[in-house]
Amino acid sequence: AQANIGVIGMAVMGSNLARNLASREGNSVAIYNRSPEKTRAVTSEFPDAGFIASESIEDFVASLSSPRTAIIMVKAGAGTDAVINQLTEHFEPGDIIVDGGNALFTDTIRREKAVRETGINFVGAGISGGEEGALLGPSIMPGGSAEAWETLGPILKSIAAVAEGEPCVTHVGTDGAGHFVKMVHNGIEYADMQLIAEAYDLIRRGTGKTPAEIADIFAEWNTGELESYLIEITAEVLRQVDASTDKPLIDVILDQAGAKGTGAWTVQTALDLGIPVSGIAEAVFARSLSSKPAQRAAASTLPGPSSTWHVKDTDAFIEDVRQALYASKIIAYSQGFDEIVAGAEQYGWDIKKGDIAKIWRGGCIIRARFLNRITEAYDENPDLVALVTAPFFTEIVSAAQDSWRRIVAGAAQSGIPAPAFSSSLSYYDGLRADRLPAALVQGQRDFFGAHTYKRVDKEGTFHTLWSGDRSEVNAEDTH
Ligand code: 6PG
Repeated sequence: AQANIGVIGMAVMGSNLARNLASREGNSVAIYNRSPEKTRAVTSEFPDAGFIASESIEDFVASLSSPRTAIIMVKAGAGTDAVINQLTEHFEPGDIIVDGGNALFTDTIRREKAVRETGINFVGAGISGGEEGALLGPSIMPGGSAEAWETLGPILKSIAAVAEGEPCVTHVGTDGAGHFVKMVHNGIEYADMQLIAEAYDLIRRGTGKTPAEIADIFAEWNTGELESYLIEITAEVLRQVDASTDKPLIDVILDQAGAKGTGAWTVQTALDLGIPVSGIAEAVFARSLSSKPAQRAAASTLPGPSSTWHVKDTDAFIEDVRQALYASKIIAYSQGFDEIVAGAEQYGWDIKKGDIAKIWRGGCIIRARFLNRITEAYDENPDLVALVTAPFFTEIVSAAQDSWRRIVAGAAQSGIPAPAFSSSLSYYDGLRADRLPAALVQGQRDFFGAHTYKRVDKEGTFHTLWSGDRSEVNAEDTH
């Protein structure tokens, strides 16, 4: 047994992670893949990595030094369970199984519980950063026991991205905490991408600028407070010219967005927890709407507004869009962090919000300059109830709100869909409202179902006798 770490699954993410591990001082990496051809291909393609390759799970396990530590990098789902079962058969108490896939956190909770009974440690680790991140330094969100973190922590720190001198990995919490946080990361990723897409669409339709010109705008934005990986790659995508047609690539890509499910999980979980992640939900739904060609074809003749947007001052308009994007982005993160707080409470995890913002500063898809501000906000006030109410963010949103309102109103008037921009603004206005029409909803519920209501001026639970003399009774007395 010579390898201190093993990787199972030699698709791109797995082989890149294995190469990343092998490139760090002190690591010796064992690899295994169900079909041996892949293992052989990786070994011969990267001879310098010094991989210890096995063609059976028994040999793989034998090649690991104790405590044996193996990272599973297979497609999330039944395949993961199969590999876990194989490993638990051959591992010993104290060994560590890491699932580095995009597993649903409730699956991770279930798996951790089952594996723990054997004395083996199970760690569910969210890994973000795509193929390049896996190779050069991802952001890693591991959940599991403190014992497992002792062995695994230094290894993960050695391969993670580094942001301002700190590795982008932290022990998120027990069992499913890491995959939960990775799920919310992906939800925010969906929102961020949708917001950027809406900004692009508004600028294109509002000003008639070409994709290449809009690429320059995004590149410019990327030098300021919006600096982030997604803004950076957006400029690259918009600048790309299709070789076969000579058109901007963006104009020949079919406008139906795919999804592998993590965004939907974020929203489903938020619904269960009762957390309004409306920006993330709109981003998920926007992808669904785009991928309904029959409905879109049938609706394509529906009437739109009589006028299109007449942007008079192009520069001012573009600045409005930028401000709207920034404010909406803050809402998306605020909602995402709300979900993390609620999840932590529901599942008993001690998640440090500031640390999560820290490990998202590098390596991951949503890495952005302003994550430092989120860390600061939680450092200043760990009990902050809504990110958007932290002084730094309140200032930004106050400065942005006129622009934000102009953009949302203009989009509505000119028939340009901006679901994430507008739902974020509605959320903001809902949150800050003095009184909400929720009072009326309570009245309606009481009317048709005697669901009762509370009053602003006294304690207790009340019901109006709607079908009687309409006097009010104390609801507790009627039971
Ligand atoms: C990451 C990403 C990644 C995710 C892809 C695809 O953090 O590296 O979140 O894990 O799988 O972005 O997601 P969709 O196919 O659902 O867009």
